Amino acid sequence: MSRRILLLGGSGRLGRELRRVLDCDAPPRSVVDLLRPETIDAAIAQGGFAVVIHAAALVGVRPCEDDRALAFAINAEGTRHVARATARSGARLVYVSTDAVFDGYKGMYREDDLPNPINTYALTKLLGEAHARMVPSHLVVRTSFVPSEGYPYPRAFVDQWTSRLTATQAAVEIARALELAVEGVIHIGGARRRQIDVAREVSPDVGEMTRAETGLALPHDMSLDCSRWLAIQAEHERNRKAAAQVKP
Ligand SMILES: NC(=O)c1ccc[n+]([C@@H]2O[C@H](COP(=O)([O-])OP(=O)(O)OC[C@H]3O[C@@H](n4cnc5c(N)ncnc54)[C@H](OP(=O)(O)O)[C@@H]3O)[C@@H](O)[C@H]2O)c1
Repeated sequence: MSRRILLLGGSGRLGRELRRVLDCDAPPRSVVDLLRPETIDAAIAQGGFAVVIHAAALVGVRPCEDDRALAFAINAEGTRHVARATARSGARLVYVSTDAVFDGYKGMYREDDLPNPINTYALTKLLGEAHARMVPSHLVVRTSFVPSEGYPYPRAFVDQWTSRLTATQAAVEIARALELAVEGVIHIGGARRRQIDVAREVSPDVGEMTRAETGLALPHDMSLDCSRWLAIQAEHERNRKAAAQVKP
């Protein structure tokens, strides 16, 4: 079977890092546009890919509130087309989702906690998840990250908790989950920290702000319980060591 990987969203913050760690085809938006289903069908049907990684989206709470129709068209409808084409081709779908699908009242969310989106971005990403989960072989990765090259805003929240990684770390972990053939929904993240602390790790001079200053509905605590992912890796390591011991 083909080992080839198709990456959608390869020009994005995460996509660029995925391209560093995976051997993949990453067509630009001019070739595969989520708003033009025929381009999705053509790329997936004719490509002979074993895996489709879908990391393309209209990202961010403000852009999605500013153009809700576009957010639904790209993140929900676009993902529906990707999922249908992937299912038809028999490939495996890896869908990059977000910690933002949770309402943020509880924190340390597990994969079986009930999502409850509180803004358009989160809702459209959850709809994308629903479509992705229709593909017989699928992996939905809920994660969160800051760009490795620096925080993209002058200020970061002092009152929001996340499990954000850097994009480099997220890409490495997603590639690892792909290698271990993880199925279903998985939470991939780091330690629970305030957004300001994560931002200052990549950009030490970032200033402080609160969620209320934005006027947007933003979750308070989007941290992720990643114990399923840790357990899968630990089990793999145990199996690897056991296999090494029985070798003559
Ligand atoms: N950034 C975060 O904090 C974060 C957190 C959790 C989850 N995620 C998820 O991770 C994934 C990647 O996020 P990111 O931060 O890397 O995003 P990004 O930097 O904004 O990149 C978005 C990517 O999607 C592509 N795209 C947008 N509209 C498209 C369309 N109509 N057709 C085809 N491609 C289109 C962009 O292509 P162009 O270069 O042509 O615009 C770009 O490659 C997304 O699914 C996002 O929801 C992000």
